[in-house]
Amino acid sequence: MGKFNSENIKTVGVFTSGGDAPGMNAAIRAVVRAALTKSYSVKGYVGGYQGILEGDSLDLERRSVANIIQRGGTILKSKRCLDFHKPEVRERAAKQIKKDNVDGLICIGGDGSFRGAQALWNEHQIPTVGMPGTIDNDIAGTDSTIGFDTAVNTALEAIDRIRDTAASHNRLFIVEVMGRDSGFIATTVGVAGGAEEIFIPENPTTLDKVVETIKAGVESGKTSSILVTAEGQKPGRAYDLAEGIRKRSGFEAKVCILGHIQRGGRPTASDRLLASRMGTAAVHYLSEGTCNVMTALQNNSVVPIDLDTCLNQKKAVLKELIQLTPILSR
Ligand code: F6P
Repeated sequence: MGKFNSENIKTVGVFTSGGDAPGMNAAIRAVVRAALTKSYSVKGYVGGYQGILEGDSLDLERRSVANIIQRGGTILKSKRCLDFHKPEVRERAAKQIKKDNVDGLICIGGDGSFRGAQALWNEHQIPTVGMPGTIDNDIAGTDSTIGFDTAVNTALEAIDRIRDTAASHNRLFIVEVMGRDSGFIATTVGVAGGAEEIFIPENPTTLDKVVETIKAGVESGKTSSILVTAEGQKPGRAYDLAEGIRKRSGFEAKVCILGHIQRGGRPTASDRLLASRMGTAAVHYLSEGTCNVMTALQNNSVVPIDLDTCLNQKKAVLKELIQLTPILSR
């Protein structure tokens, strides 16, 4: 956690970074309106860290963020900026932020984006606050991230629809959801959608075990099954799983890859509320002179947690959820 003199804040900057997530617009709206309420001006950088480097910013007023609370995506656009790993690039960004007279910066994104914010504070004393915005929910220290609930509900709706056709045709389906390094979406929709098996990077299982599960299901009278897998490092792995199952058992599985559908769409009430609470809190932390923190949801309260602590930990998928599938879906 960093401390700085906040008495002279005049302008706050905000940007979205990394993969977009539903609720980012609600988050921008909250930051803008909370900052204006404190009589700060607000600059929105367009296109994440790249926008900062290019000095691409918009002055945001109350009306600039009207009618966006319900919209997916991000009006400030988003990018992954791999160049930001280089210290000389961060130095250029810091110069631009100072040139723009931005006294505090709010980064809405995932852990990769937070590392940039952390470095801007550590190396250039630019006060930064992170707001967790990613559908993956893989940020330690917060119970949920902005966008996760919407993505889960989008994926769940798809699984419910697939179940209808799977049941009608007595079929086995493999549904692939997002999550490069983490199985939060897969585990949550798997349990909520009644999946027979869930594949996640954190809890690898074997094809033999999966085939056993499918066979046991058939023997107990199941006529259709749904397996959910996180995409892991290689989107499209559902096809490899289907092929592995076919070779081992002869069972033919249909594959459905949900992909970027999960990143778009109207944010749920829960994501809008989280974004609104966190955006207001982020501005509050800066106004108190607190930085190098992330807005975190803990036990239904929004609290500041140290960015250094949060970036040093890996968030674990709830064991209890992982254990539910074999009990509930057999
Ligand atoms: O936003 C996180 C995430 O959705 C991951 O789950 C996924 O692996 C990745 O982004 C894909 O994003 P992109 O297509 O932007 O590289």
